Amino acid sequence: DINVTVVDINEERIRGWNGDDLSKLPVYEPGLSEIVSKTRGKNLFFSTNVEKGIKSADMIFISVNTPTKAKGLGAGKSSDLKWVELCARQIALLATGYTIVVEKSTMPVRTAAVIKTILFAQQESKNNEENKQTFSVLSNPEFLAEGTAIRDLQQPDRVLIGGEDDKSIDLLLNIYKKWVPENLILRTNLWSSELSKLAANAFLAQRITSINSISSLCESTGADVSEVSKAIGYDTRIGGKFLKSGPGFGGSCFKKDVLNLVYLCHHFGLPEVAKYWENVISLNDWHQEKIAQNVIQKLFGTLSGKKISILGFSFKANTNDTRESPAIKIAKIFLEEGAHLSIHDPQVSKDQICRDLNLSPTERDSNNNDLQIEGSWNYYDDIYKSLAGADASLIITEWDIYKNLDWDKISKLMRNPAWVFDTRRVLDPKIVHKYDINLWQVGKG
Ligand code: UGA
Repeated sequence: DINVTVVDINEERIRGWNGDDLSKLPVYEPGLSEIVSKTRGKNLFFSTNVEKGIKSADMIFISVNTPTKAKGLGAGKSSDLKWVELCARQIALLATGYTIVVEKSTMPVRTAAVIKTILFAQQESKNNEENKQTFSVLSNPEFLAEGTAIRDLQQPDRVLIGGEDDKSIDLLLNIYKKWVPENLILRTNLWSSELSKLAANAFLAQRITSINSISSLCESTGADVSEVSKAIGYDTRIGGKFLKSGPGFGGSCFKKDVLNLVYLCHHFGLPEVAKYWENVISLNDWHQEKIAQNVIQKLFGTLSGKKISILGFSFKANTNDTRESPAIKIAKIFLEEGAHLSIHDPQVSKDQICRDLNLSPTERDSNNNDLQIEGSWNYYDDIYKSLAGADASLIITEWDIYKNLDWDKISKLMRNPAWVFDTRRVLDPKIVHKYDINLWQVGKG
């Protein structure tokens, strides 16, 4: 019984969301196309008519991106609120009647104050006898993770609503109450809600950095990180989730949000706290570089003239998102070392990889074989073709298809001595070791 209209100025995007082929929606997310197919055209609409969308809405969710500022004050750390500000100005100008504006994008603490200032300035100038324009501002951060977004939406751990007046909080709460038990809907003040989102991501990022740091120690001591994480996770105070060592965290949020927290700490005169969180990022960067260096070292200190197959380019499985993917940093190091990379990913497109590496793929000869130029790469639909003639293979994303590969076939395809680097611990060493392949797994001493 609620009409949802998603508006965007990007025509291509909206065309994508309105397209007939539901397997080609702009975002790959398990379960999403089913929801879109059930609701699109009934109570879910996608449109470029931003003006109409704002004018007719009772509640507006600002869901634009808030990237890290590239230049100026706070560059490299604070969020660029350009798009949020533009949205607020447009809403201020066009909204009619009582309108609830909800911060959905992850914002630095006290952004609601900026939105409120813009909205209320306009409210004063617009109001006259016949036109009563009023606004409420709420913070309702999003906690869903890519790859499990639909499950997280349908069964959230909690929903957080921060606001200043009960009326608007109740109106939003009533929507969530339709499928979320009320005891899981938390009401807070605006600032707690904004900070909770940053803090939650910072805690999660810190947890991964913590286990990855232990993983390095495991590799040096002969311990096994999967055994250690199981052992510590059994302590109910620690818990077993989010303790998988890997190639370091990626994704559009963790780095951005931790840096944002760092910026806030500096801003509010807390340099020691800032330093604490900053280390979560630097250790993650170091961990990714260490994985790349380890590959180079095992391949006799040079990648020049060698072919390396990269399996997985997205930052985690079940998404086509490559933002801050560990694959980008690792691939760039290999390219600099003169390797030829054969890249496979079941969902990431060749064009996307091209943009991420800032490098076009290499030419192929008349038999469709790669010209193995130093510091080049190519894209493969077929995993086995990407492995043919490779000196090493690196599994960077934990896609299910990489878990049950034909190692007999692979051992005959790769160049000896062949190396496989499993940064996700998806392989069964007992199977791989049956063939003439060297296996390295993250966190295994
Ligand atoms: C993260 C949070 O988990 C969400 O709660 C939050 O809403 C979202 O950011 C956001 O702010 O938008 P997301 O980045 O989609 O979600 O994915 P995660 O599952 O958190 O994974 C982040 C990175 O950590 C990935 O690179 C993943 O491979 C890595 N990871 C995760 C590990 O290396 N080990 C783990 O045990 C878990």
